[in-house]
Amino acid sequence: MTSATGRVAGKKAFITGGAQGLGAGAARRLAEEGAKVALGDLNLEGAQAVAEELNAAHGRGTAVAYRLDVTQEDQWAAALEQANAAMGGISVLLNNAGISKGGDLEHCSLQDFRDVMSVNVDSVFLGAKLAMPYLRDNQPGSIINISSIAGLIANHNGPAYNASKAAVWLLSKNIALYCAKQKLDVRSNSIHPTFIDTPILDPIRQRFGKEEGEAKLGRQVPLGRIGTPRDIADAVLYLASDESRFMTGAELKLDGGISAM
Ligand SMILES: NC(=O)c1ccc[n+]([C@@H]2O[C@H](COP(=O)([O-])OP(=O)(O)OC[C@H]3O[C@@H](n4cnc5c(N)ncnc54)[C@H](O)[C@@H]3O)[C@@H](O)[C@H]2O)c1
Repeated sequence: MTSATGRVAGKKAFITGGAQGLGAGAARRLAEEGAKVALGDLNLEGAQAVAEELNAAHGRGTAVAYRLDVTQEDQWAAALEQANAAMGGISVLLNNAGISKGGDLEHCSLQDFRDVMSVNVDSVFLGAKLAMPYLRDNQPGSIINISSIAGLIANHNGPAYNASKAAVWLLSKNIALYCAKQKLDVRSNSIHPTFIDTPILDPIRQRFGKEEGEAKLGRQVPLGRIGTPRDIADAVLYLASDESRFMTGAELKLDGGISAM
């Protein structure tokens, strides 16, 4: 059975990109601490595998999985409706699905730019907008948007990723102020990770080899290593729980010190 005593006992979280990486890591941590989770992903098989793992570990009814393309409004509406029915509400929205592609300014096609903006930004807009009725009915609520340290600090390449993650940063604050103005106890915050050990880093591993690729990235981080999914999941847990009840419109930088330099 889901724990009745965990830090997010009774919370019902909808998580995008839950099939692997940070989304799956957050789902595991939230379920360990008593939440129910609904995983939405393009990769239905992967999301179902994570859901089965969580149901085996924490009891049937802990997790459900849906196929969801976060760029599609009708798919959002259907997945949220089903998740609301399955979990008995939605009180946490984790907008985590994201992609990175395209070259530098002169090598990034307009299509790649638009694809990245659509997956990384349209998703947060659509998710927050369409989940709001459910969050309103299940207060206190929390929206957690995974931006990146690349949303706060620019790079010489990846213009689409930089621009999209900066948009997520300010959109999170817009949502926070909207909810406050509406007198809703629904908070909205963003998380800004640096390099984390997930499949999103595979292109770098392929280019330099696993060990050297990760070491190369780790040397850019003052703490001397790339992060783990658990490093991010613990921040998600805090923001999903009522422990962060007075935090809204804020950004949590989980960057091993990069932005302090
Ligand atoms: N890992 C890092 O180094 C890092 C650093 C900073 C920020 N982030 C951000 O964290 C988030 C998660 O990244 P990750 O490292 O776990 O990546 P990942 O590639 O391992 O996982 C992303 C998941 O999102 C899903 N997805 C992609 N497009 C989708 C769509 N249109 N609709 C639904 N699902 C879709 C994928 O199927 C996959 O399961 C992303 O927003 C990413 O930008 C990651």
